[in-house]
Amino acid sequence: MLVDFQKLTPRDAHPWIINAITPRPIAWVSTVSAAGQTNLAPFSFFQGICSSPPTLMFCGANDRTGKKKDSVINVGQVPEFVVNLVPYALRDVMNLTSAALPHGESEFEKFNVVSAPSTRVRPPRVVASPVAFECKLDRIVIIGDDGPLSGNVVFGTILCAHVNESVLTDGAIDPHKLDTIGRMGGEYYTRTTELFTLKRPT
Ligand SMILES: Cc1cc2nc3c(=O)[nH]c(=O)nc-3n(C[C@H](O)[C@H](O)[C@H](O)COP(=O)(O)O)c2cc1C
Repeated sequence: MLVDFQKLTPRDAHPWIINAITPRPIAWVSTVSAAGQTNLAPFSFFQGICSSPPTLMFCGANDRTGKKKDSVINVGQVPEFVVNLVPYALRDVMNLTSAALPHGESEFEKFNVVSAPSTRVRPPRVVASPVAFECKLDRIVIIGDDGPLSGNVVFGTILCAHVNESVLTDGAIDPHKLDTIGRMGGEYYTRTTELFTLKRPT
């Protein structure tokens, strides 16, 4: 069958995108508002994109009324954020933090997520996350007309990362130990416990 995106409404396009483009890594993003209130929310439109300078991105969509997510608002006010990776053990609390809380109410406090001060940026990091990237805002690119469901792609330059020693083997991150989860379509997730290798062609 052919799915014609030029004939789909944005709401109808969404499931075709998120059910097909899988698995997606999850950025559990901590930010802080100008008033100093912390925020924590998951985003699976997320990827590391280049090493020079070290850069990652996540995308927060406007809601159905065109309102921006607190994470996007905060990063516009205080141009720093932390991307905490999500291991299987944190799946439930990560999911809780996707609740739409009133602006200014902290998911760290509401859901008892233990935080630690970051080293180079103001938003705190999640202590139980195996890897937490401290980032400074590079730019925000608005996709679409900035109305309902338009995207706000937040690019960040990675300043430093906190890596838990428990996921290292010989000083490098060991994929057998990381145990991160990925987002599939609907309510499905996947786990990085089934690995295989491929030799790159010479
Ligand atoms: C696993 C997962 C992935 C998500 N990915 C995204 C995403 O990529 N973009 C987005 O706008 N919302 C995404 N959401 C929904 C946001 O987490 C949710 O709207 C949250 O309330 C935003 O919080 P904020 O307003 O505090 O920034 C995701 C939710 C879950 C559970």
